[in-house]
Amino acid sequence: MSQATAAPAAAKGDAATKNTLTVTDNRTGKTFEIPIENGTFKALDFRQMKVSADDFGLMSYDPAFMNTASCKSTITFIDGDKGILRYRGYPIEQIAEKSNYLETAYLILNGELPKKAQYDEWVDNITHHTFLHENIKDLMTGFRYDAHPMGMLVSMMGALSTFYPEAKHIHDPLVRQKQIYRLIAKIPTLAAFAYRHSKGLPYVYPDNDLSYSGNFLQMMFKIGGRYEVHPVLERALDVLFILHADHEQNCSTSAMRNVGSSYVDPYSATAAAVGALYGPLHGGANEQVLRMLDVIGTKENVPAFVKDVKTSGGEVKLMGFGHRVYKNYDPRAKIIKLMADQVFEVVGRNPKLEIAIELEKIALSDEYFLKRKLYPNVDFYSGLIYQAMSFPVDMFPVLFAIGRMSGWLAQWQEMVTDKEQKIARPRQVFLGSDERNFVPMGKR
Ligand code: CMC
Repeated sequence: MSQATAAPAAAKGDAATKNTLTVTDNRTGKTFEIPIENGTFKALDFRQMKVSADDFGLMSYDPAFMNTASCKSTITFIDGDKGILRYRGYPIEQIAEKSNYLETAYLILNGELPKKAQYDEWVDNITHHTFLHENIKDLMTGFRYDAHPMGMLVSMMGALSTFYPEAKHIHDPLVRQKQIYRLIAKIPTLAAFAYRHSKGLPYVYPDNDLSYSGNFLQMMFKIGGRYEVHPVLERALDVLFILHADHEQNCSTSAMRNVGSSYVDPYSATAAAVGALYGPLHGGANEQVLRMLDVIGTKENVPAFVKDVKTSGGEVKLMGFGHRVYKNYDPRAKIIKLMADQVFEVVGRNPKLEIAIELEKIALSDEYFLKRKLYPNVDFYSGLIYQAMSFPVDMFPVLFAIGRMSGWLAQWQEMVTDKEQKIARPRQVFLGSDERNFVPMGKR
């Protein structure tokens, strides 16, 4: 099961299966009964275990939160062993087939699918916040032509907080809602502006008659007033946004929650989340997959590359493989792989697809990957589609960020309204020097 999402089945009234933990502290011989709720115990319940009155009490040590739930959530469910992903209870396969990105964003943020009037109002509100303040263009010009678009996005997100100072009133639901409209609406515009800047092309303003994905495509690729949005590509991009919309407590979402727990405005918290997503182990992996396929070069070189991965002692990784939670095929990767064919039918097959398929085939029959339960994740095939659609490789993580915006905001809102949450502030195990006297420079 997903971590801490399901309580173990305990037979009611049977003392042998009580929902508690009996812990004996062998340092003192004392025994404690610790409650178990939702398959978790509270780390704070261990603080009462002390060896002396002035002892701080026992803490748990869990680098990288391998086995620690930091919140209760009702947004996204993952069963990593079975390869299950659900938003608000709905299987990702059904959502990807039947919904669109904005409807999915509504579901993720509000907990229920919208009725027609709610949907229309939601889409209308997003559509009417797509424009950026003109001064953003001046900020953009400060970047070098080769600035990475994720770096630009981090900066522009932070900058947006200065344009909407009222956003700091995060406990006002109406203020929060307004920023949610703005952030979902403006992130495609920021992303497209970053791309146009890198190409030295004039910015293309939003077209509010188009869909969320269609508008983004035209802001990216329209030249000389011409760009026909292809319905297959528009739908494919929309589905990719759906698949990236939320993934419970991943690195960037945890960053959003952690930074947001200081009660900073959501633009500043989102800047932190985009920064976390940029890393090659997280959303930056889709870019690294394409760079890896370039290095491999041909299908024939795949076995040698796989050998390198296995013998490098963890230094060379098969990018787009492995996941902290999934120990099975990532359900998003399955959908993306199927969708790739539809896109390639329109724009032509990405020649790197055959290298990727060969990599997957060899890796999935190799003891190294099988033993470690390393399967393709969402990033393995998404880049091949993005590239075939003419997105440059460094835009891939930006596309991830556009889709993830709704999830970040839903998790941020859940955190802000959760009475059990406080400012995030982990403890440490201090192993440094004991107290010592300062030594003047001349005596060192
Ligand atoms: N290629 C080769 N070996 C791997 C890989 C990989 N992609 N991923 C994990 N391993 C090995 C790792 O070296 C370790 O081996 P050993 O037990 O011998 O030390 C073992 O598998 C367990 O890995 P881990 O690093 O302890 O696992 P983790 O949960 O800390 O890391 C991960 C998860 C996603 C960071 C990691 O699998 C990875 O670096 N993958 C490549 C980057 C990538 O594709 N990231 C995208 C993740 S999905 C989208 C998202 O949410 O961002």
